[in-house]
Amino acid sequence: MATKILITGANGQLGSVLTKALQNTYGINNVIATDIKYNAAFVGVFEFLDATDFNNIQHIIKEHHITEIYHMAAILSASGEKQPLRTWDINNNTFLNVLEAARLNSIHKVFYPSSIAVYGNNAPKNNTPQDFFLTPTTVYGMSKAAGEHWANYYFLKYNLDVRSLRYPGVIGHQTSPGGGTTDYAVDAYHYAVKQEEYTCFLNESSGLPMIYMDDAIRATIELMSAPKDAIKTRTSYNIASMSFTPKALEKAISQIMPNFKMVYTPDFRQQIADSWPNSIDDTEARNDWAWKPKYDLKSMTKDMIKHLKETYNTENA
Ligand code: SER
Repeated sequence: MATKILITGANGQLGSVLTKALQNTYGINNVIATDIKYNAAFVGVFEFLDATDFNNIQHIIKEHHITEIYHMAAILSASGEKQPLRTWDINNNTFLNVLEAARLNSIHKVFYPSSIAVYGNNAPKNNTPQDFFLTPTTVYGMSKAAGEHWANYYFLKYNLDVRSLRYPGVIGHQTSPGGGTTDYAVDAYHYAVKQEEYTCFLNESSGLPMIYMDDAIRATIELMSAPKDAIKTRTSYNIASMSFTPKALEKAISQIMPNFKMVYTPDFRQQIADSWPNSIDDTEARNDWAWKPKYDLKSMTKDMIKHLKETYNTENA
């Protein structure tokens, strides 16, 4: 049977880039992009879907003969703290709807994005092991940790092939993030290219795990293409790429844009960043399905600035 993909949150930071990558891999008509927002510039097959609506998920699965689901819709860490109960409700209920609809409709594979936010203050800060006890302190982290356990449960109980990655902060030039704690890094590049000073909402020494969009998308596609029996972790895989502080980012950007400056005015997001690891151990992903990042801070910075310059030049042309 041909692969037919349903993606939720298809207009989001990761979702929109992943949608294009899946369209390229499986064919434009085999990817059904869904979201609660319309995007006038979207090219492909789009359906409006509020993933809290179980019946509509089922309807779209049946209508399009869906075989795989990528559930990218979620409220991120910083936005989540402003509306904890709603975030729990949205993040958890949508995923349970997806899992249950997948089970009832014999969906072959489900992808679930988790996050470094599942870790809490008790975890070792450096090279945090994948299977360390999870004590998240944000509702976003709590919802992702619970989701990982539900993924594992549906695999063990129903043999549903759910696969998951714990993304570090994702940095890309294609889309803007919304409501995350790692978003500062994306913002900094935009300010640098606009030749403006950037006020960072974290202090200069907040080390966090990060990944370039290209690597994050490739990891997702490689995980989902791996043979089923290679996937030994059914909660979620750590994937590491690079780790840096805001000060190190400022330095890397100023190698290319010498006038760039960042000032530091930490806000409530500092506490969130402080509860997360500085770096994570991804041995299992490397061993089980050969994960290997391509970008480091230097090569990412070069690529980000090149692409953002093109974007701003086109907009101003
Ligand atoms: N990038 C996310 C956030 O900052 C972490 O997964 O909320």
